[in-house]
Formats: sequence, C-alpha cells, structure tokens
Amino acid sequence: MKKIIIIVCIFFSVALGQKSELKNVKVLPFTEKREVVKYMKSVVAKELGVKCSFCHNMTDYASDEKDHKKVAREMMVMTMNANKTMKNLNFHDISCWVCHRGNKHPDHPPKKK
Ligand code: HEC
Ligand code: HEC
Repeated sequence: MKKIIIIVCIFFSVALGQKSELKNVKVLPFTEKREVVKYMKSVVAKELGVKCSFCHNMTDYASDEKDHKKVAREMMVMTMNANKTMKNLNFHDISCWVCHRGNKHPDHPPKKK
C-alpha cells in the first residue's frame, strides 16, 4: 500500500512538473521542454539560419514580444497543416527547410514580365 502511494505521488509530481515547464507553447505538440529545445535547435534555428535571439528574448523564452516569433508560430501551423496533406498522399513530412533552405526569407518566384 505504502509503495502504491509513493508511486502515485511521484507520478503526479512528474506530471505537474512537466506541465509548468512550458509556459507559452500554443501550437507545437510537445509536452517537455527538452523536446521543444531539440526542435528549436535542429529544425527552426538551423533551417532558417538564425540564432535563438532572432525570435526570443534571451531572458524569457515564453515571451511573445518579438514579431518574428509570432510569424514563426503561424509558419508552424502552416507547416503542420501541409503535413496533413502530405500524410494523406503518403509523402514525407515537410519542414521549414522545404521553403527556407537556411534563409530567413525564402526566394520568391521570378516576377512575371
Ligand atoms: C524563427 C523563430 C524561432 C527561433 C529561431 C527559435 N524559436 Fe523557440 N519558439 C518559437 C516559437 C514560435 C515558439 C512557440 C511555439 C508554440 O506556441 O507552440 C517557441 C518556443 C520556445 C520555447 C518554449 C518557451 C515556453 O515555455 O513557452 C523554448 C524553450 C524555445 N522556444 C527555445 C528556443 C531555443 C533554445 C532556440 C535556439 C536554439 C529557439 N527557441 C529558436 C520560435 C523560435
Ligand atoms: C511553404 C513555404 C514555407 C514554409 C514551409 C515555411 N515558410 Fe516561413 N516563410 C515563407 C515565405 C515565403 C516567407 C517570406 C514572406 C515574404 O518575404 O514576403 C517566410 C517568412 C518567415 C519568417 C519571417 C522572417 C522575417 O524576417 O520576418 C519566419 C520567422 C518564418 N518564415 C519561419 C518559418 C518557420 C519556423 C517554418 C517551419 C516551421 C517556416 N517558416 C516554414 C515560406 C515558408
């Protein structure tokens, strides 16, 4: 009995701990900070060729004060929606790279004459 109570307590402290870890994650499907940081490093910053400070106030990652971060959140939604289509077609997922290719601003198609 004692054992069960301890296990239940550990479970709740872990679950609550994880919940309070992320403060302002509205669209990404992650529940743990390390998953968010991994995605930020290996996808977002890398595929746009920028540092974390391009989107974040370095003393408060949860803050939405930078417009780049707000645009990026919409871009994440766009990419997730595109991936629903890709999944239906049985194609690979896309990521920011497909358009950005290491740049803040993707190339636009040449202007029509
Ligand atoms: C191009 C913009 C952009 C860059 C660059 C970026 N992030 Fe983010 N980051 C976001 C957005 C947008 C969110 C919120 C996502 C959401 O609402 O689901 C976020 C959320 C986070 C959070 C969650 C904060 C919280 O508790 O709400 C952390 C931590 C974080 N980023 C760390 C990093 C780190 C570390 C780097 C650099 C390796 C980085 N980010 C680079 C756009 C960016
Ligand atoms: C379907 C193509 C496409 C995908 C996929 C895409 N983007 Fe973009 N993104 C664009 C285009 C095009 C622009 C520039 C708009 C312009 O120049 O008028 C842009 C602009 C941005 C900007 C604004 C840069 C600035 O200087 O203000 C951010 C931030 C951004 N994208 C983040 C992301 C992130 C993060 C992802 C992946 C989650 C992503 N984008 C995926 C096409 C895309």
